[in-house]
This record gives sequence, C-alpha cells and structure tokens, in this order.
Amino acid sequence: MIAFSDITLDYLSDTVKTTPLNGLNLTISDGDFIAITGPSGSGKSSFVNVAAGLLKPTSGSVTYNGTDLYGLSRKSLALTRLSNVGIVFQDFRLIDHLTVMDNIVLPAKLLDGKVSDEKVERAKTLTEQLGINHRLHHFPSQLSGGQQQRVSIARALINNPTLVIADEPTGNLDHKNTLAIGEILQTLNTQGTTILLVTHDAEIVSLATNKFTIFDGKLERR
Ligand SMILES: Nc1ncnc2c1ncn2[C@@H]1O[C@H](COP(=O)(O)OP(=O)(O)OP(=O)(O)O)[C@@H](O)[C@H]1O
Ligand SMILES: [Mg+2]
Repeated sequence: MIAFSDITLDYLSDTVKTTPLNGLNLTISDGDFIAITGPSGSGKSSFVNVAAGLLKPTSGSVTYNGTDLYGLSRKSLALTRLSNVGIVFQDFRLIDHLTVMDNIVLPAKLLDGKVSDEKVERAKTLTEQLGINHRLHHFPSQLSGGQQQRVSIARALINNPTLVIADEPTGNLDHKNTLAIGEILQTLNTQGTTILLVTHDAEIVSLATNKFTIFDGKLERR
C-alpha cells in the first residue's frame, strides 16, 4: 500500500514560488490501476516524481507499506526504487552513450551487480512486445521519439516491479502502439502489479480502476 498524506510541494526561485501540490492525499492499494489527468502545468509530473521517491515534498509524507519513503537513507531509497518501482519518465531519460539493450538492462545491473541471462532474455521479450527488437544495438539518438519512449518502458519493466509509475507513457505513440502499451499494462495489472499512470489517452484511462484529475494541487476523483 502507498499512502500520500497532506503532500505539499513548493518550487522556489529568486522571485517566484510555485506550489503545484497543495494538501494532496491519496491511498493506493496493491493491485490498483490509477490514472491521473490534468491540464499542462497542473503538477502531474511533480506528483510522479514525489511518488517515485525522486523529489522530497516540502511537507507531508509518502509511505510504502508503512515505511516513510523520504525517511530512508539515500542508499535504502535507491534500493527500494530499483527493486520495487519501474518509472517511465515523460522525457524518457535514456542514457545517450548506451545502446538500447544496455539502457534497458541498466536497472538490472544496478540492482544485481550484473546482468543475468534471465534479464537479457526478459529484455528481448519486452522489446519484441514493444516492437523495438530490431533496434537493440542502436543508440537513443538514432531512434524516433516513440521508439525512445518504448525503450524507456522496457527499462521500467526489466526488474519485474511491483509498482509501475508512468508519466504519459503513450504521449509519443501512434494508435497501434498505444494499444500495445495498454495491453502490456493491463496484463501486468491482472498479474498483480500496481499501476500509477499520468495519461490523457481516453483508451488508457478506460483501463484504470481509479481515475483522478489533479486540480488546485489536489486529486479529485472523476
Ligand atoms: N524544477 C522546477 N522548478 C520550478 N518550477 C517547476 C519545476 N518543475 C515544475 N515546475 C512548475 O510546477 C508546475 C507543475 O509542473 P509539472 O511539470 O508537474 O506539470 P505537469 O502537469 O506535468 O505538466 P505537463 O502536462 O505539461 O507535463 C508548473 O507550473 C511548472 O512550471
Ligand atoms: Mg508532465
């Protein structure tokens, strides 16, 4: 279970304070499929980063199964993320000098200290499902935006996460690939994976069991 309690996030610059999250509460049960929508700039990516343990909120708490996420040491937090959470960033965040294959297995290497044959096989299966298996030895700059997005999805899934957090994971994809991602997410969810998704795609939203809009720094059920 993941619980967000009274989350507030301020961004401070020299002259401006922005508060995209303001008293946000949410409880996610294991196996939930949550879809969040909201206008550009409403704080969706900020929330994704807070949920993933990458951005400490100004106040409030995030607990994973009762453990205060931001109370963990840097090392424990990194380990918690690597072993439990798969993250798909809105801007992909692939490593330029690594091939597609090496990008995908990087979380496996960081978690296990090496890339096992099993993880290589898993990477191949994922790239086949995602239709990028003919690009394994290419570098990110040699891929289209939609292909890069699919690499970032494969990377998120390599360690069999129990929680997938994805920020507009089909934002750069055509209809056919969007459906393929929807199918992958739904299959994972049926197998018990918890899904937290930011998306504007009506078809992906329709898969979710709990739908929210972010408004005024809070989540409203829709
Ligand atoms: N690092 C930052 N420093 C200062 N302000 C930021 C930073 N990141 C985001 N913001 C501001 O916080 C607000 C929320 O941004 P966020 O990226 O979370 O929105 P979003 O809902 O994901 O938007 P989009 O749909 O365009 O991706 C925006 O007003 C943005 O300008
Ligand atoms: Mg965003």
